[in-house]
Amino acid sequence: MTQIKNLDWENLDFAYQSTDYSYVSNWSDGAWDAGCLTSEHTITLSECAGIYQYCQECFEGLKAYATADGGIVCFRPELNAVRMSASATRLEMPPFPEKRFVSAVEQVIDANACWVPPYGSGATLYVRPFMIATGEVLGVAPASAYQFRILVTPVGPYFKGGIRPIRLTVSPYDRAAPHGTGNIKAGLNYGMSIKATMDAHRAGFDENLYLDAQSRTYVEETGGANVLFVTADGALVAPQSPTDSILHSITRRSLVQVAQDLGMPVIERPVSWHEVAEGGFAECGLCGTAAVISPVAEIHNGDIVVVFPQGHDEMGPVMGRLRETLTGIQEGALEDVHGWVHTI
Ligand code: PLP
Ligand code: COI
Repeated sequence: MTQIKNLDWENLDFAYQSTDYSYVSNWSDGAWDAGCLTSEHTITLSECAGIYQYCQECFEGLKAYATADGGIVCFRPELNAVRMSASATRLEMPPFPEKRFVSAVEQVIDANACWVPPYGSGATLYVRPFMIATGEVLGVAPASAYQFRILVTPVGPYFKGGIRPIRLTVSPYDRAAPHGTGNIKAGLNYGMSIKATMDAHRAGFDENLYLDAQSRTYVEETGGANVLFVTADGALVAPQSPTDSILHSITRRSLVQVAQDLGMPVIERPVSWHEVAEGGFAECGLCGTAAVISPVAEIHNGDIVVVFPQGHDEMGPVMGRLRETLTGIQEGALEDVHGWVHTI
């Protein structure tokens, strides 16, 4: 039996603290080395490393959970492996082999078992695989060396105050260029969103909702989660991007399946801001690894305020049912008919 750490699990923020081990593997001369666990949590690099100069970096995010029967699981890590390969390829980085990715996730979670928050605490072990260009570059070019690393850290809810309906504002900034990098998980998409996020916070909002950069007509997503809507007659609507600039959320893909399994109609299509502003939806929520499902109470766009009739004071019925079902599957309380849960 692992003796778990004595932390205030119920009150953890979504913040980093170092744990016992990270996983590290280095690439040079066309190959990844064998990789290993490390207790060194600092990276020392040349000042001219590609990561510092041109942000050649991509990352992933998934969570490990304790189950009621004392086991540890994570959720669909093979999809994170595939998405990270796609991100790396888009950035001219060498993909980390997908089978090795899953094995590295298993090793690093297992080695940090005492940091996995207890079942029912509301906290989870966040797993952050990432890859950086460690080789030196001066001209804009791919580096000659890379590091793949996985850090893990125990976290609480992404939005302060836990699961509560949040307030979004339509950002005057764009998140992703049409046919740009919005559909990959690259640090550069997040670095440029920090000012937009802080502006939203300073104006009293929890997050930004971004519109498509090409026409500023369609709803895309928020800075760190996809968005979902529910129509008055109970259909789940998941926005699609005409310019493929939304990150393909694993949580969303899973929720679409869960909704179908529950017999709900599901429609994946472009959603215009006009439709949202006209009151076309009864419920709205954000979904992602960090956000899980966070209900959205209101979306502001200048003087226009869209208030969702369901889910304003507490989570609406459809988002609530989806959240309960997904977290039930993830934590082992509900049957995992699709084989999504990965035992460590
Ligand atoms: N959209 C963005 C921009 C994200 O950063 C994330 C988080 O990973 C998501 C969506 C949700 O994706 P996933 O459900 O795979 O975590
Ligand atoms: C995640 O949900 O795992 C993410 O990477 C989002 C990030 C902005 C914290």
